[in-house]
Amino acid sequence: MDLLKKKIREEGVVLSDSVLKVDSFLNHGVDPQLMDAIGEEFAGRYGDESITKVLTIESSGIAPGLMAALKLGVPMIFARKRQSLTQSEGLITSKVYSFTKKEENTISVSGKYIHEGDRVLIIDDFLANGQAAWGLIDLAEKAGAEVAGVGIVIEKSFQDGGGNLRQKGYRVDSLAEIESLEAGRIKFKEDKAAEANLS
Ligand code: G4P
Repeated sequence: MDLLKKKIREEGVVLSDSVLKVDSFLNHGVDPQLMDAIGEEFAGRYGDESITKVLTIESSGIAPGLMAALKLGVPMIFARKRQSLTQSEGLITSKVYSFTKKEENTISVSGKYIHEGDRVLIIDDFLANGQAAWGLIDLAEKAGAEVAGVGIVIEKSFQDGGGNLRQKGYRVDSLAEIESLEAGRIKFKEDKAAEANLS
């Protein structure tokens, strides 16, 4: 997705060989026009998949998840990382370990909003080691729903989350795939093909 890649190139800050900061448009500030285009892109890719719900996780999954849901014409549900004061009955939970933060979170959704008969599109901002995606898949499947695919805004393909999900047969659609962040440079996966074409 060219608009997204342009934004990453212009505003992304490489913090280390493995971490990209995109606070200006995705993880803190949120660019509504970009989110609109992202929602449109996911809806285009999953429009024929009979999606009934979009499932994401707080907090940075909510903006792209909501726009995808809007464009698909279905409700969005976000998994919580902390239990809500008003939610206790019928909770479905899963444990998610964050390699980045070195902590385990119990994530949850209410069985009231996702259940058997649902065909779910999972959306998240980043795909790194895949822990959040597996947690969301676990929640959806525990609820009796079917997972149609996982839609990711930025996949870091040098980490193994995407590979593992695809190997297990899940459809994964990433709108920008980063192959490397080495030497402070953002290298997209397609860059390789582009370089090959030039030579
Ligand atoms: P995983 O789910 O793929 O295994 O990722 P990991 O545990 O390593 O990531 C934990 C958190 O860090 C997630 O956000 C994830 O989106 C984010 N993250 C991972 N790699 C990067 C990166 O290179 N850049 C940025 N900006 N974020 C990254 P979170 O803690 O759930 O945060 P939020 O959704 O509340 O904002």
